[in-house]
Amino acid sequence: MDIHKEKAIPAACGGTPVRDKKIYYGHQYIDEADIQAVADVMRSDYLTCGPKIGELERKLCQVTGAKYAVVCSNGTAALHMACMAAGVGPGDEVITTPITFAASANCALYCGARPVFADIREDTYNIDPASVAEKVSGKTKAVVAVDFTGQSVELDELTALCRKNNLVLIEDGAHVIGTKYKGKNNGSISDMTTLSFHPVKTVTGGEGGAVLTNSEEYYKKLLLYRAHGITRDPEMMEGEPEGDWYYEQIALGYNYRMTDMQAALIMSQLDKLPMFSKRRKEIVARYNEAFSRLPQLRVQKEIPESDTTRHLYILRLVPERLSIGRKEFFDALAAENVCCNVHYIPTYYFPYYRKLGYEKGICPKAEKLYEEIISLPLYYAMTGRDVEDVIEAVIKIAEYYSK
Ligand SMILES: Cc1ncc(COP(=O)(O)O)c(C=O)c1O
Repeated sequence: MDIHKEKAIPAACGGTPVRDKKIYYGHQYIDEADIQAVADVMRSDYLTCGPKIGELERKLCQVTGAKYAVVCSNGTAALHMACMAAGVGPGDEVITTPITFAASANCALYCGARPVFADIREDTYNIDPASVAEKVSGKTKAVVAVDFTGQSVELDELTALCRKNNLVLIEDGAHVIGTKYKGKNNGSISDMTTLSFHPVKTVTGGEGGAVLTNSEEYYKKLLLYRAHGITRDPEMMEGEPEGDWYYEQIALGYNYRMTDMQAALIMSQLDKLPMFSKRRKEIVARYNEAFSRLPQLRVQKEIPESDTTRHLYILRLVPERLSIGRKEFFDALAAENVCCNVHYIPTYYFPYYRKLGYEKGICPKAEKLYEEIISLPLYYAMTGRDVEDVIEAVIKIAEYYSK
């Protein structure tokens, strides 16, 4: 069928679905080397706090160019530890974007601070440095800038703004592994960068997270917060060590440790990062090529400074050119067996945030974006056929409902 010559009938209107098998928006890729790496740990002496933790931290420093890495149980724990290391506390404000997973703002709440939402750029969907500048107050302590979809935030502008106002720049890099900003790996630039190794991310450990930093001061604090605030370093103790068993709790930390099984899996996955990155870039290029031809659709703008390994592919609808809304488009794709998602519901829409006093209307560009987006399938193991099926389904629906 030549989809450019005739209007094919969507499955939602009685036509034949493009695929007979469902495809989902994300999926991990696990090979035998990954399984072997985990099995080796399970046969070893240490299941947690063993040698794999330090090995992974060294490997993350090599891969990203950061001086220090502290791995932890997940990306949310990483954000919490980063906020604590930045000194965020009651009465402070932390600026972030609403187009993110809730953890990017929750980390401020965990510290007793108030998240303040800055609007996004209408074309890149990343936090807008100009909006951040408008939201800075005497109470602002840190900025949590999310590299949404894996595209780097505008680090030069945000760094300058943070330096000028004495703020800590925390990059929420849950999506960013594999991306470079002006030729340098994200993770080696901001005061602290957090990572997530959740299964839909480019590199997974099942669960897992990390904080990357070039600051020894932050590094030492992060080590403490990961493990209950406990130290075995005599120089950090108030008392004299009473023996080899001795340790002191000198701060209030958490159990945010990562297991050695997770660390081994993440290391094995990192070996595949160049391959993951290449394939994700190929799929994004093919989607962009196909969708940028249609006036009913918009593709995410990429800033030239970011060499992006995309974690998510966001399709944006042009409501003026379509006779259906996002929900109908989303459901029509599901009827074609293309199962998508939406990233993200603006954080302050959630009932918990509404009860804290946040109201709709704070970030108009983010709110408009939310109405118009769908996350399409994007993951390493997608075949060429999978990619073409997704494209065919999207074009079929966009053309059928064109206005
Ligand atoms: C932007 C962003 N920040 C933070 C997180 C939290 O990471 P985790 O799920 O590893 O706790 C996620 C994960 O979904 C995320 O997408």
